[in-house]
Amino acid sequence: MDVKIYEYDAVIVGAGLAGLAAAKELTEAGKKTAVITKLHPLRSHSGAAQGGINAALGKDDSTELHEFDTVKGSDYLADQDCVEFMCSKAPETIRWAERMGAVFSRDKDGDIAIRPFGGQSKPRACYAKDRTGLTLLQTIYEQADRAGIEVFDEWYCSDLIYEDGKVSGVVAYDIRNSKPAIFNAKVTMFATGGHGRAFRFNSNAHANTGDSLSIVARHGLPLEDMEFVQFHPSGLGGSGVLISEAARGEGGRLFNSEGERFMTKYAPNAMELASRDVVSRAIMEEVRQGRGVGKDGQSVNIDLTHLDPEIILTKLPELRELAIAFQGQDMLKEPIHISATAHYSMGGIPTNINCQVRKSPTEMVEGFFAAGECSCVSVHGANRLGANSVLEALLFGRHAGENMVKTLDEGIELRPASLSDADACINEMKTLIRSNGSERVPALREELQNGMTKNAGVFRTKESLEEQLELINTLLVRFKNIRIDDKSKTFNTDLQEATELGHMLEFSKFIVYGALNREESRGGHYREDFPTRDDEKFMKHTYAYMDKDFNMTHEWGEVVQGKFEPMERKY
Ligand code: FUM
Repeated sequence: MDVKIYEYDAVIVGAGLAGLAAAKELTEAGKKTAVITKLHPLRSHSGAAQGGINAALGKDDSTELHEFDTVKGSDYLADQDCVEFMCSKAPETIRWAERMGAVFSRDKDGDIAIRPFGGQSKPRACYAKDRTGLTLLQTIYEQADRAGIEVFDEWYCSDLIYEDGKVSGVVAYDIRNSKPAIFNAKVTMFATGGHGRAFRFNSNAHANTGDSLSIVARHGLPLEDMEFVQFHPSGLGGSGVLISEAARGEGGRLFNSEGERFMTKYAPNAMELASRDVVSRAIMEEVRQGRGVGKDGQSVNIDLTHLDPEIILTKLPELRELAIAFQGQDMLKEPIHISATAHYSMGGIPTNINCQVRKSPTEMVEGFFAAGECSCVSVHGANRLGANSVLEALLFGRHAGENMVKTLDEGIELRPASLSDADACINEMKTLIRSNGSERVPALREELQNGMTKNAGVFRTKESLEEQLELINTLLVRFKNIRIDDKSKTFNTDLQEATELGHMLEFSKFIVYGALNREESRGGHYREDFPTRDDEKFMKHTYAYMDKDFNMTHEWGEVVQGKFEPMERKY
């Protein structure tokens, strides 16, 4: 196969907020930078972030309070040095975004408007109506484009060039014609976003298949804290499509089928604005107890009909349209059905505070960086606060870019790639395209997703997790016997979906393995058989590894403590 080798100072995989922020920094610093993305940048899932981006801008707010809420929300598993860094830089990040041209909603005094979000003691989510992510994505894309970034869109990254503790680029293929190429670079960054598609009921884009996680793991590198998956309280009943927390921030109330405002039982002070893990469990508990609504009884109601319609029309217009389009329910006139939906991964590719990827809890990989949802710098610990993800992606994406510039300026050398670096990619493509077995990719994917939602969802037990581990092992074997009908090289989505399923099966094993080992409940990870937090045994980060036969091992990493002592969380 004809393989082209490109040479760059920096290559970035992923073109959402984190990837574009880094690319902009690098390009403005005169570094030759390629951005590889399987979608056009403006289709990145960052654009789906609705409700806001946190910064302590309110008159009676402070960055220290933002830090405290983040650490408490994380159920004390976040690394406090990283949290302090993020929260202290948040106001400046908003001003930076605004100077670039992001138009935030305003309050009556003309200041950037802020709204309350769950688990936070002050309103601090800055927003652009309910299209915050899209506004920021368009802005950063315009600016990165103006800086002259080179984008390889509709290219699929399938391997990392990694040897002797150093990364020197990636291998990707052009989805248009299936031609592979080597992107040889001095520094490389993964900013590929989330992996919620592993669950049946999720709020994620179709592209969120977590490819980069298993690409990293296939090289024997660890993934951190993968057991911590966030289930957002409000996904539209049938589909899981996100109804922003802004709906509750603006005053939305939750009711069960008996008309009871049930959050009084679960979080009598914060009510609907308790942290997401608390609200999601409350919703699913009501459903389990038979007090759900909707045809299948699997949802609860969110009611906004008591609000001034102007609030909905001016601050939540997109949410209203989504609920009408997907459910035929108009929130101006009636409550809408929602349920907990897989939304975000707190875990991912481990990095230090400078976004450099870790090879183990204490060693770093040379020339390799990660930021945004695919990474785990550990500012979210066991549960993320709403509106901290857009902040993390933008802020740490930019920070990764700055650190990549620094690494380049310090003189990191290009390790020349050789054509054999593309072997794994080519072999994977050839094997998949020749597959003539009897299993179908959509069917296997559905089995995985159904199992993950049922067995590794909001509530988990040893039995359910063991069942899921067994299912994944079986699916990994059955995956070897798939059939691909499209044997062509042009826009072969059959091939891409099969490749993505391979990744989903592998990283899902990390989620389940981590959840089995962690015999406690913390943040988004709730074990019914171990319902309390156990700081003595589990105030630790999971670093899990997978070998070539999909066997798992793990070691523990220290949680960076700081000024906030672990306490019982009450909302
Ligand atoms: O509810 C939302 O608007 C989601 C925001 C987030 O996940 O940060």
